Amino acid sequence: MTFPLTFTSLATLLMQVRGAWLRWLGRTHGAGMAKKKPLEWVNFLMAGRGEEQGTAPLPPIFPALTPARAWAMAGATAMSDSARDQRADHRKPTTFLMAGRGEEQGTAPLPPYHLPVLPAEVERWMDAKSGDVIIDGTLGGGGHTSLFLQKGARVLGIDRDPEALAYAGKRLAAYRDALSTFQANYSQMSEHPNLPESGQVQGILLDLGVSSHQLDCAERGFSFQKDGPLDMRMGPNAEMTAADFVNAASEAEMVQVLREFGEEPQARRIAHLITERRRKTPFTRTGDLASCIESALGRHGRTHPATRTFQAIRMRINEELSLLHDALEAAVRCLAPGGRLLVITFHSLEDRMVKQFLQHRAKPYIDDPTWPAPRDNPEYHLTLPVRKSISAGSAELTSNPRARSAKLRVAVRNHRKLETP
Ligand SMILES: C[S@@+](CC[C@H](N)C(=O)[O-])C[C@H]1O[C@@H](n2cnc3c(N)ncnc32)[C@H](O)[C@@H]1O
Repeated sequence: MTFPLTFTSLATLLMQVRGAWLRWLGRTHGAGMAKKKPLEWVNFLMAGRGEEQGTAPLPPIFPALTPARAWAMAGATAMSDSARDQRADHRKPTTFLMAGRGEEQGTAPLPPYHLPVLPAEVERWMDAKSGDVIIDGTLGGGGHTSLFLQKGARVLGIDRDPEALAYAGKRLAAYRDALSTFQANYSQMSEHPNLPESGQVQGILLDLGVSSHQLDCAERGFSFQKDGPLDMRMGPNAEMTAADFVNAASEAEMVQVLREFGEEPQARRIAHLITERRRKTPFTRTGDLASCIESALGRHGRTHPATRTFQAIRMRINEELSLLHDALEAAVRCLAPGGRLLVITFHSLEDRMVKQFLQHRAKPYIDDPTWPAPRDNPEYHLTLPVRKSISAGSAELTSNPRARSAKLRVAVRNHRKLETP
């Protein structure tokens, strides 16, 4: 007897919940989003995830702020006034960051290069002030640096990629008196002649990995989705190309690289495959390497089977982990007491290294089971204002899917003097 009543109430309740959900979607994301089916939502949330996250990008369903779109908006194109107003609030800063602001230079905007991740969080934790000296160890398209320059800070922008330096230099030409650029590895940050003495820098940023420009440009050879020369060098100072490595490394070395830098469970199989295939024809193209791996391993799920191999080779070619460790050491030497170190990572290997380094440097005492008592940590030079990593919020994930795997860690230099070697 109670069944029809319960069923009716349940149906009414469900309709009310659905109505509220659709109204919320309409309010927050525009009417188009309210029409999505559940599966489309999943696709939307996953859309555009790049190779760094180990998945192939999907075409975005919602008109998220892709580089091309940011570019179009910066050029104030055909978008209607009402549509522009609707989106203006959270898109304006992104457009500014992405598009190289023509108004800074009084010239037409530059083509899109890279949309910086976690801009609000970087701005907040860097807390740049007029007169501060800041090192941006990964200048890229200059998006983060522009935030520091606007606050009146002076910036040393380092990148190993001359294309990045040329782009950012042009983009930020209006700040030429406050910006010095340096083509180098970030581990060499203290070597620039214009830098004040060690221990006088108020902030250092490392936003690791490759830029969207590097990844999207087939000629740079980072992508397994766009055929190009098998290169993967972030800058000309890398000692070899990916083709050099793939065609010359021993099978054992390749297994080790795939395991260590790619955490690839199929390392042995892939290394054997590569060494067998190169006997007949050496590898010269990214597409060739990717399809060779795919044809042997097959494709299971969304992740391309060459994802981890490409990450591992890229990290080997650019010596990413060893340079990162050296850069963290150099950063501690450069920072003034109270100076901030911000590091953004995109995968677990980097994040583990940064986390362990910062945690060790933030311990006043160290202990060992063989010691009678804890000892002073001679490397205690940092404090951690936030112990956990900081991730992007949902608004940013909507406009920049690349931010999905970004983790920001922050440390502050304490007053303890460095021991001279
Ligand atoms: C993620 S992008 C940085 C984007 C930048 N924060 C922006 O707002 O446009 C990383 C940049 O760091 C550079 N890079 C990577 N490893 C480096 C290293 N060891 N030394 C110097 N630059 C490096 C890359 O060439 C790339 O341009």
